[in-house]
Amino acid sequence: MSSEIQQQINSLREELNQHNYKYYVLNSPNISDFDYDQMMHRLIKLEKEHPEFADANSPSQRVGSDLSNDFQQITHKYPMLSLGNTYNEEEIADFHQRVVKAIGEDIEYVCELKYDGTAIGLTYENGLLKHAVTRGDGEKGDDVTANVKTIKSIPLQLSGNYPKNFEIRGEIFIPNSEFIKINELREKEGDPTFANARNAASGSLKMKKSSDVAKRGLDCYLYYMLGENLPSTIHANNLEEARTWGFKIPEHYKTCHSLEEINQFIKHWDQERFNLPFEIDGIVIKVNDINLQNELGYTAKSPRWAISYKFQAEEACTKLLSVDYQVGRTGKITPVANLDAVQLAGTTVRRASLHNADIIEQLNLHEHDMVYVEKGGEIIPKITRVNESERHPLASPISFIANCPECGTALIRPEGEVAHFCPNDKMCPPQLKGKIEHFVSRKALNIDSFGEQVVDLLFEKGLVKNVSDIYDLNYEILNGLTRISGDDESKKLFSFQEKSTQNLLDGIQTSKSIPFPSVLFGLGIKHVGATVAKTLTRKFNTIEKLSEATLEALTAVDDIGPKVAESVVKYFADEENQQMIARLKNAGLQFESEEHLTSEGKFTGQSFVVSGTFSNFSRDELKKIIEQNGGKNLSGVSAKTSYLVAGEKTGPAKLTKAEKLKVTIISETEFMDLLEN
Ligand code: IVH
Repeated sequence: MSSEIQQQINSLREELNQHNYKYYVLNSPNISDFDYDQMMHRLIKLEKEHPEFADANSPSQRVGSDLSNDFQQITHKYPMLSLGNTYNEEEIADFHQRVVKAIGEDIEYVCELKYDGTAIGLTYENGLLKHAVTRGDGEKGDDVTANVKTIKSIPLQLSGNYPKNFEIRGEIFIPNSEFIKINELREKEGDPTFANARNAASGSLKMKKSSDVAKRGLDCYLYYMLGENLPSTIHANNLEEARTWGFKIPEHYKTCHSLEEINQFIKHWDQERFNLPFEIDGIVIKVNDINLQNELGYTAKSPRWAISYKFQAEEACTKLLSVDYQVGRTGKITPVANLDAVQLAGTTVRRASLHNADIIEQLNLHEHDMVYVEKGGEIIPKITRVNESERHPLASPISFIANCPECGTALIRPEGEVAHFCPNDKMCPPQLKGKIEHFVSRKALNIDSFGEQVVDLLFEKGLVKNVSDIYDLNYEILNGLTRISGDDESKKLFSFQEKSTQNLLDGIQTSKSIPFPSVLFGLGIKHVGATVAKTLTRKFNTIEKLSEATLEALTAVDDIGPKVAESVVKYFADEENQQMIARLKNAGLQFESEEHLTSEGKFTGQSFVVSGTFSNFSRDELKKIIEQNGGKNLSGVSAKTSYLVAGEKTGPAKLTKAEKLKVTIISETEFMDLLEN
């Protein structure tokens, strides 16, 4: 009897371990949440009834305990060092030179992402997780094993051909979606929110009750193995081996053989990092050959065989000088802070965006406050907080302006919007100029020789007041036209010469063949972005049909809400807009869609969510194929979704939701079959 029970317990443990692995490491579960929970309950029940079969590494232990943790210190077998930081290409070149000098030219590097969480060292004995230890002071760290066991992507028991004893190190982090949830909850419950996902991860790891840790959605990537009997003398091979034992090893790494390749990797991820579901703060470059690593050795603090490159995201403190208010093409007012110049991550910062009146109020911004600026993904840095202790006692709060700084019109704040607007869209100069700039921009009419300077010049001379005037320009008008800008000290001269005149006229001519969706987008109708423009032209394939569309007809289109519909109707009701369109049409611009011909296809009436990465296509390419065949791309899984095209690393939340809603999940190959058959 008792051995039968033990067998039952063992097979439940094994099955649950498998499901954990599939869900949390491979991101491809093949069991419903419900069935998983049932299985877990059966195991917990059996373990409770038969305490003689207790096992510290049972998957049931992952729910954590309510007993208070007491973190013992454990000495690291191998000191846990940090990495030297670099911030630019030159410093990386210096690192490379040092490596070359020590071991010669023929070097293979591995470039990895630098996960922005908290470091962890996991020791395994006979395939079982023995200890999980934080970095601590590098010599000794806290034993956080009980908490780490709640992280489901960390295997408690390994499979395959692993060494008897080894340590594997990595980073515990909180995915962005979980971080948002944690802070929302904390705000609701009146707890202070975490400043960033890294703090949330390290805070969570040190929580007293492991059952609370289990709720924090922690995850872990492993990136470094240590031990006497490792499978290979090549770092990347060891990690690939470790993947087969059940570890979550990052896919985002690349072997590089030159500085160019390294810099390319950096450039790629400097952009692409914003599309990752977690935070990274740089990349790590490692010599791949462990024998060469040993030859290079260590300084007191860090290895000589590896270095990190940090993306710019530092914070600086400086003084607020004044606040400017910029008027955009839609009349939207954006407050911008002028700052006392300060160095931030390698650049001098003089301005920061304040976004809107609410943000100014939330920051409780006062005149001449000392403010903290941070450079996130945006080009313009933002003010994150104010040092109120340094505020002058008589300083008055910054109050949002009531009138347009450019034309004096009283500002409005439409219901449901956070921004203020200048309603004078027919006369307010920056709005008129902004509309022209938008019209000629890349995603619209794409006239690249029509830069800001040209817009300023033609607008100021009264030659282009609205976009239809562009098509009246000719060589005689343009050639020799000159503009002087700036003050006495920094005077700039711009003038149309023969070549620049011809370039502009060529660009204008070419723009006449730009397809209708881009032209519609170029008109700059409020709330009609590039995607909405595409949707509208697909449904109403001529400008006449669109301009006659009623509110009802517009809102009947999938993805078109009342806000867009109202804005479109209002735009076409305006006589001046109609006249302008008539002139553009006369000039030969495209106001008829060819797309409706292709919008009927294999996937007409079907909607897709494309998620993860694919081997033969990029995500965007797949989306394009779907569109070209009449299908619709959705960003999230809903009951309306026909298919979830799941690549590698598809978010587990999407998969779970698709399963719940009975949405068909298909692979890249199945998608191609669908298309071709
Ligand atoms: S390797 C001896 N690889 O960055 C080198 N570290 O200051 C061991 N980190 O403490 C570290 N991503 O917490 C390595 N792909 C990666 C990493 C990484 C993040 C963290 C780690 C380390 C710190 C270096």
